[in-house]
Amino acid sequence: MARNIPKDFIDNIIDKANIVDIIGNYIKLEKKGNDYWARCPFHSEKTSSFSVSENKQFFHCFGCGAHGNAIGFIMDHSNKTYPEAIETIANTLGLEIPRDKESSKIYEARKILQNSLNDAKDNFENQLKNSTKAISYLKQRNITGETAKIFNIGYAANDYQVLNKFLSATYTEKNLLEAGLIVKKDKNSYDKFRDRIMFPIHDQTGNIIAFGGRILNEDKEKSLAKYMNSPETALFSKKKVLYNLHLAKKEKKSRDFLYVVEGYMDVIKLHQAGIKNSVATLGTAVTQENLLQCFKYTKEIICCFDGDNAGKKAAWQGVENIMPVIKDGDAISFVFLPENCDPDNIIENGGEKLWNENINKKISIEEFIYLKYSKEFDLSTAAGKTQYLQKIDALLKKLNAKILKQIIMEYLKEKVGVKYISKKNKLEEPVQHKKYKTTSPLQKAVLILLHNPNVNINEELFNDTRIKGNKGIILMKSIVELIKKNNSIKLGAILESFRDDEKIYVSLEKISRIPITDYEYPDKELNACLCLAIRNTLKSKLADIDPSDLKEFSSVQREIREIEEKSKNY
Ligand code: CTP
Ligand code: MN
Repeated sequence: MARNIPKDFIDNIIDKANIVDIIGNYIKLEKKGNDYWARCPFHSEKTSSFSVSENKQFFHCFGCGAHGNAIGFIMDHSNKTYPEAIETIANTLGLEIPRDKESSKIYEARKILQNSLNDAKDNFENQLKNSTKAISYLKQRNITGETAKIFNIGYAANDYQVLNKFLSATYTEKNLLEAGLIVKKDKNSYDKFRDRIMFPIHDQTGNIIAFGGRILNEDKEKSLAKYMNSPETALFSKKKVLYNLHLAKKEKKSRDFLYVVEGYMDVIKLHQAGIKNSVATLGTAVTQENLLQCFKYTKEIICCFDGDNAGKKAAWQGVENIMPVIKDGDAISFVFLPENCDPDNIIENGGEKLWNENINKKISIEEFIYLKYSKEFDLSTAAGKTQYLQKIDALLKKLNAKILKQIIMEYLKEKVGVKYISKKNKLEEPVQHKKYKTTSPLQKAVLILLHNPNVNINEELFNDTRIKGNKGIILMKSIVELIKKNNSIKLGAILESFRDDEKIYVSLEKISRIPITDYEYPDKELNACLCLAIRNTLKSKLADIDPSDLKEFSSVQREIREIEEKSKNY
């Protein structure tokens, strides 16, 4: 799809857009020295290690290593696709994207779905106004008119054609089927939602992407599902969405913690009680997508469940789901409410005070794991302890967050009196320093070139035949080509030009995340790297020569001495 937006348009956008303004639209940046700083939106932290360089049109987090250009930021921060990110930037610049046929078709189709859902929401809201039955249901559940408005709550009457008729004036049957608003049986289409209170579901940017509908009376004889959701559509994937994230993320409190609850009603009642930093999964256990989304906005998620067995099961399912995507620094805790109690009931029974009393009983993820496994084994025996530890090992294998893994492991071992910690499991150094370092002189040279496009490269060294086949040199040559064409190009744009060339893009991406020292003489550093690369090549050549071939051996040795001599100039 990205290929369908003309390349020169993308170049133009990257040239015009200023990364500081763009990121500034999402988070508050503070200027210190040459760069702008903020608390990193991609991991939770107390101090600002997220930097944005106007000069380089690039962002970099010294804490978690997140980095990239304006497009990358929007993609990661708002979970957007590449073309969507381009579109966002184009919009802020007031530019219209020229599209070819294929992509404009996809774009238009999505727009139509979005519009139809929006119109459906208006229609449901109107139907609610005209239904005393629906209004009295909401009243009975203590939902005020104001709250209903905030959440765009509506009603779908007990009729097969209200919405279908209303929307058919504007949309085709195909549109409405694709939006999941109507269903078709044999040759007839009719409204999917009937006699239900309607809850629009928004994506995190606030577009309506689906609906959830609740029946008014739980009639056991009719055995209707209490809640019904829109089907999966081009816009809606149930496991990716969190109800109310678009509003919750605007709350200041959400930066500290977000409540993840189970139902729409829970979110709505909490909001009405002034607790606005809550989101709900859509009747599923917490998914990886849910977790990743939440931690873009918060430091801690507090998952709230009914204390009955079903609630505990759902909570545990969530733990297993999210293990692989938990990052060091993510705080996850659990609250088990009294049995058969959901947040809605708590608010009804005791408002914010009772809610906070319950939240104060939250337990950490490691405590939850202990509670679960300690019940499964007889921990008074060595065999039981072993089985317990084996189970923990298996669970934590899925956890990639190294520091957290170690801390949880120690906690869970100590809980059963196992003090021994093998050397292998010792707390590891934070990954950052180990991982983000150049591994070869040419990699360092590429890094310097990326950050200093106008650096003076010594042509003789750069074109030295002894390193001409080296991957790093080839990479540098294509970057230099690019710089020749546009000598004001910056790091962010250089990276972007290679997006279509996956191999190069991936290696440049890796290199660009390495923190660079601000060298006083980048030219000298770079040329010294070239010398070093030549020397290394000669050294490995030397290792391959049969020492009995004295002539060859001494000739290479001489070359090494020469280049070492030369490198003293730098
Ligand atoms: N849910 C669903 N299908 C069902 C039941 C529930 O999709 N048949 C989802 C809904 O998203 C619902 C959530 O699971 O919001 C929680 O269900 P439940 O606890 O039964 O609903 P509540 O939010 O408590 O709703 P209410 O208080 O209206 O009964
Ligand atoms: Mn409920």
